[in-house]
Amino acid sequence: MRRIAFINEKGGTCKTTLAVNTAAWLARERGQKVLLVDLDTQGHAGKVLGLDVRRLPRNVFHLLTDAAVRFDEVVQPSQVEGLDVVPAYKEMADFPVAVASDARRAHRLAERLKAAEAAGYDTVVFDAPPSLGLTTRNILVASTEVVVPVALTYLALDGCAEVAETVRQVGEAEGCPELRVTKVVPTLYRKTALATAILERLKAYFPDALAATPLGYSVKVDEAQSHGKTIWEYAPRSPGARMLAAIAAEIHGEPAPRRGRAARRA
Ligand SMILES: Nc1ncnc2c1ncn2[C@@H]1O[C@H](COP(=O)(O)OP(=O)(O)OP(=O)(O)O)[C@@H](O)[C@H]1O
Ligand SMILES: [Mg+2]
Repeated sequence: MRRIAFINEKGGTCKTTLAVNTAAWLARERGQKVLLVDLDTQGHAGKVLGLDVRRLPRNVFHLLTDAAVRFDEVVQPSQVEGLDVVPAYKEMADFPVAVASDARRAHRLAERLKAAEAAGYDTVVFDAPPSLGLTTRNILVASTEVVVPVALTYLALDGCAEVAETVRQVGEAEGCPELRVTKVVPTLYRKTALATAILERLKAYFPDALAATPLGYSVKVDEAQSHGKTIWEYAPRSPGARMLAAIAAEIHGEPAPRRGRAARRA
């Protein structure tokens, strides 16, 4: 079972957008059984898939903090065939305090996801909160791959290097020394001199991991989320859909399209 984390401590870098649409693409286009696990207090991954996360009696917090709560009690089907969701909501803010006395508190998520393996999921996708605290540590311990979405602003490189170092440190400290950033995805791309310069520096810093297709600005991507839909249901022929498909395919390990092709169509 592949376990792909979307992580960046900086807010608004398109973690949720990429996590949700990549998970949906794997289910729709590659016929996989996919589980999307939200771990952010904002509950956005569930919300953008049309779930009313405020009204659900149990979510990922209950799964992680109460051994009596079963995995199948928190899993929700989504409108995308093959894609299930474990939603999150505000309770996750209490997670670090709720598990403070547990020496293995960073392993809670990995432990509880053994049930996902047993349930036959091909891929688990994690949507991380914009911070590098205990929740993100749990995600890293439970992951086999780390994708870092990077908004192309002038602080991007700084934050990205820090995330890469955190991933390495947590991997060593928690017994997963192989854990590395496997993909860096430039997001909110606009063809400016600054964005081009940042892209060049990212390429030098992450020569093997930098995604060939940046996620450019696309109003349809933003609109889709406000309608509680994936891009494939809302605007499947839009440039945003083409970019997200190219990125998902790359994350899946398929050959990248010729550099910049999807972005140029945007
Ligand atoms: N390609 C795009 N073009 C324009 N807007 C986008 C694009 N992708 C995402 N957005 C919008 O940018 C905002 C931030 O995106 P998103 O929620 O995916 O970021 P995030 O990293 O998950 O944020 P947070 O750190 O708060 O969890 C959202 O309103 C989203 O709809
Ligand atoms: Mg998010």
